[in-house]
Amino acid sequence: MKVSRGALEIVAVSPAMIELVKVVERLADARSTVLLAGESGTGKDLIAHLLHYGGARSGGPLIKVHCPSIPEDLLESELFGHERGAFTDASATKVGKLEMAEGGTIYFDQVQDLSLPLQAKLLRVVEERRFERLGATRTIEVDVRFVSSANVDLRRAVEQGSFRDDLYHRLSVVPLTLPPLRERREDIVPLAEHFLARGREHYQTPARTFESAVLDLLKGYRWPGNVRELRSVVERAALYAQHGTISSAALPAHVLEEPRALWIGRSRHLSLREVEEAYIRFVLEQFGGSQTRAAAVLGISRKSLWERRRRFGIP
Ligand SMILES: Nc1ncnc2c1ncn2[C@@H]1O[C@H](COP(=O)(O)OP(=O)(O)OP(=O)(O)O)[C@@H](O)[C@H]1O
Ligand SMILES: [Mg+2]
Repeated sequence: MKVSRGALEIVAVSPAMIELVKVVERLADARSTVLLAGESGTGKDLIAHLLHYGGARSGGPLIKVHCPSIPEDLLESELFGHERGAFTDASATKVGKLEMAEGGTIYFDQVQDLSLPLQAKLLRVVEERRFERLGATRTIEVDVRFVSSANVDLRRAVEQGSFRDDLYHRLSVVPLTLPPLRERREDIVPLAEHFLARGREHYQTPARTFESAVLDLLKGYRWPGNVRELRSVVERAALYAQHGTISSAALPAHVLEEPRALWIGRSRHLSLREVEEAYIRFVLEQFGGSQTRAAAVLGISRKSLWERRRRFGIP
């Protein structure tokens, strides 16, 4: 299934992602506070966008606060704004991001990086939806939806004392978790095809399809960088591909090498000789005709690959 909302396109094939998208669509019209958890590259930003653009607040602004990139001393005035003269550099009144998000959504990306003093200030805003600009006495009320994301386990951060317990509970009224890509392998091929199609549109790359060996390699890889990593592997492969079909030669070495480790780990009941033969057959299959590539993955010369093929009778 592919969900489209304006420019947003979300691929969801695994039961976990289908369920997540359903929940997000049900929540989109509400003002409920959502916390998105998941490893880096799993799609938290994309889901935050779907929450906003897929619902009643889509006419209002989506204001993103990328917590790690704004220096601590600036973040407070970025969020709350300030009055002229509130501090030495405050030569003009500044409207903060909370005010800018009026009628829409404010998205705290990587909220784990907020300092403890700012967490205390944010707590009041999330609870009361009121605050003052720095240096002001007038209280401002806002109608905003709070969405946050964290790519570390926020509960652990609470246990370790780097995140406030009360703020955690306020932000996680609706907790949603994006599973790592390796735990929803059904999504891998549809995502790869999606990124290939996008690549054709944006970079006019000629590739249309993947060799089936490539799809096997993509499905077998662990994807520590999740969907973001898959996207860059596919876009890169599409740029390198000369023809309509992407072959395994276009994949980066680490994606090619991983099956070797996995495969050996599962072969405990074979003799060494059998393992060697079967593995050579496996690698040759993965790389179609390319002896050079197969020999490189096996870590032997082309000559010894040729000798082994003769010995094992591999055509
Ligand atoms: N289900 C999906 N369908 C289509 N594209 C996706 C999907 N999930 C992720 N992507 C794409 O993968 C990339 C990474 O996703 P995103 O930026 O949302 O990850 P993230 O969880 O916010 O990562 P980080 O924690 O590093 O900020 C983006 O280009 C996004 O569009
Ligand atoms: Mg993100």
